[in-house]
Amino acid sequence: MYRTSSAVLLLLLLQFLNSGVALENGLARTPPMGWMSWQRFRCITDCKLYPDECISERLFRRHADLIASEGYADAGYEYVIIDDCWLEKERDKKTNKLVEDHKRFPSGLNALADHIHNRGLKFGLYQDFGTHTCAGYPGVINNMQLDAQTFADWDVDYVKLDGCYANITDMAAGYPEFGRLLNATGRPMVYSCSWPAYQEDSGDEPDYESLKKHCNLWRNWDDIDDSLESVMQIIDYFGKNQDRIQPHGGPGHWNDPDMLLLGNYGLSYDQSKLQMAVWAVLAAPLIMSNDLAKVDSRVKAILQNRDVIAVNQDPLGIQGRRVLVKNDIEVDVT
Ligand SMILES: *[C@@H]1O[C@H](CO)[C@@H](O)[C@H](O)[C@H]1NC(C)=O
Ligand SMILES: *[C@@H]1O[C@H](CO)[C@@H](O)[C@H](O)[C@H]1NC(C)=O
Repeated sequence: MYRTSSAVLLLLLLQFLNSGVALENGLARTPPMGWMSWQRFRCITDCKLYPDECISERLFRRHADLIASEGYADAGYEYVIIDDCWLEKERDKKTNKLVEDHKRFPSGLNALADHIHNRGLKFGLYQDFGTHTCAGYPGVINNMQLDAQTFADWDVDYVKLDGCYANITDMAAGYPEFGRLLNATGRPMVYSCSWPAYQEDSGDEPDYESLKKHCNLWRNWDDIDDSLESVMQIIDYFGKNQDRIQPHGGPGHWNDPDMLLLGNYGLSYDQSKLQMAVWAVLAAPLIMSNDLAKVDSRVKAILQNRDVIAVNQDPLGIQGRRVLVKNDIEVDVT
């Protein structure tokens, strides 16, 4: 009796402590799962030379279909996210709105959103807080309200906001402001912030309380590359800095070590298991970036491993910690 009530009290206390700090849009209660174009397809825009790889509506339709038909959706993968290089180089002259590349997205983003939604999946889109995206397309800085509304009008469910060509000092106010504008549209959109990665790069410690309040997930550090070395560097960063990072992950607000590399060229079968296991323990977003038509069946089984995914998707959302590093052996617990 006594035990039960103190457990309930503790839970209530935790809920009380949590309210007020987290972004209360009801989204990303467990780490988001999905697929994103960047790591595998980067900024390939030549659809003549690379018809299956270029950043185009075909690529995203193809991947929405594969997520639904190849068992990924059943395993929990949900968001289909367009990364950089989807825009025309200029805004619309009359309306000043963002415009999708007409040649590569001839049906428009609403049609693509419908295609994704019709498969029971959700639609994610990339933009940048600065004057330009990292690849040089127009950013949101001077048009934040218009762009937030345009995202809502396109039926977007997830926004990744990068931080190239921006003043890092402005981010502490600017990222929360864009989040408020997304909220003001009335359309629930997961908000992924790249702001701390830029601060960390410039030697400033990120403001985790503000991140929790304004973002559903945030990129803590460097971009991942298709190699074991890159995976190990990220693991080491999260291990070494866990005292200031780990406590801030939780339902609705996640630390993000970047995409899953599985199914590409850089990781062996065993190394693929390593990334999946550590990302699961870190309560990391599980965002694949690969060509789903080319993932071999053994790697596919890792990506869809129900037990590993259950660790990652635990409703309590407690991020695991590194407890021991000895002679190149690392132990992480969740
Ligand atoms: C960045 O913004 C701050 C304050 O808004 C300003 O003082 C500073 O000069 C800006 N830096 C650059 C490089 O624009
Ligand atoms: C906007 O924010 C309020 C207050 O946090 C929240 O209750 C609401 O669900 C949010 N709406 C959307 C669409 O995100």
